[in-house]
Amino acid sequence: MTTRQKLRIGLFGYGVVGQGLHDVLNSSCGFKADIVRICVKDPLKKRRIPMEHFTFNRNDILNDDSINLVVELINDPDAAYEIVTGAMKRGKHVVSANKTMIANHFRELVEMQTKYNVSFLYEASAGASIPIIRNLEEYYDNELLHSLRGILNGSTNYILTKMHNENIPFSQALNEAIELGYAEKDPSLDIDGFDAKFKLCIITCHAYGLFLEPEEVFHYGIRNISKFDIRYAKEKGFKIKLVPYVGKTNDNTITSYVLPRFISSDKYLYNVDYEYNGIITEAAFADKQFFSGKGAGGHATGSAVLSDISALSYGYRYEYKKYLQGTVTNYTRDFRIEIYLRYKNENDRELFNFEEISEQYHSNTCNYVIGVVNLSRLYELRHKLPDMDVFIINTGRKDIN
Ligand code: HSE
Repeated sequence: MTTRQKLRIGLFGYGVVGQGLHDVLNSSCGFKADIVRICVKDPLKKRRIPMEHFTFNRNDILNDDSINLVVELINDPDAAYEIVTGAMKRGKHVVSANKTMIANHFRELVEMQTKYNVSFLYEASAGASIPIIRNLEEYYDNELLHSLRGILNGSTNYILTKMHNENIPFSQALNEAIELGYAEKDPSLDIDGFDAKFKLCIITCHAYGLFLEPEEVFHYGIRNISKFDIRYAKEKGFKIKLVPYVGKTNDNTITSYVLPRFISSDKYLYNVDYEYNGIITEAAFADKQFFSGKGAGGHATGSAVLSDISALSYGYRYEYKKYLQGTVTNYTRDFRIEIYLRYKNENDRELFNFEEISEQYHSNTCNYVIGVVNLSRLYELRHKLPDMDVFIINTGRKDIN
């Protein structure tokens, strides 16, 4: 039996997730860990526990040799990077939920944990309460994984659910997601699809062993969704969800992207609503599997952080098995996708180079077309798309590749 290491924790951040973790730790029956110090930024903010627990100087934690685990739960990805790398350099284990920071420094952070012989765990960074990273590491380590897709952003799922169910405007639904503590400090990370993409990049490493630069991956969010799109979806019996996808195009190549997608009522993701996330894996032997759970919020995310802390006390480390196997070596964007494009100007539509068209509609106020485009073309247009009066939805209707 593995003996448990006694953990003395330095916690960074006491916002939604930090407080959530505190509650979860206080209520956990089997596991006790000692939070020695909590480092926060704002000395004037009223806290719900006595001030003697807090410090405003990160070195009070980083230079405290009695602290052997840093739990990093702050918003700012640059500060998080300094804290996490500073902790590892001092031989401290790290648990982080900062998907922006991890996705943008992924390979370096993974190399650092080997160099400094520490463990770096981040289950809460993707899918919050859904233990997808550990599943990919442990259960799928030798599986032939065809694809993984799902809902990885609670805020946009909350917004889309509210717009669908209650017909409320986008801005109102977004404000609710902010008030409920689901959205990022900068909510454009959620609504433009960055957050889902960062999570997808983290998952991709554990699913296929490739460290993708986020910039390589096409993402498109829900900022430009209109009532017309919601009405169209409803009339056809669909819901719209923001769905990141990664999958194989041949034995050693994968593709990935983040796009809104039509979901029909017979699909697993159809009933994944509000702040819930859902992930579907398709594999050669296990076949189709579906994971669902809360994807945002203090307690749900805190539960994943607790699980990492507990695993770490047993000496758990990710082994990056798919990376070491090295089966997947290539990444491609040469991939055909059927999309619904709602647009105003014919010039905009021309930009997409539609290959096949199966449906089109014109009216005085709105037009749409359904047809096949290439992901590489969408990627070329990526900087223009947010400012264009268009909305794109992956129909997900047929396998065209
Ligand atoms: N803003 C994120 C979301 C929080 O809405 O999913 C959890 O990562």
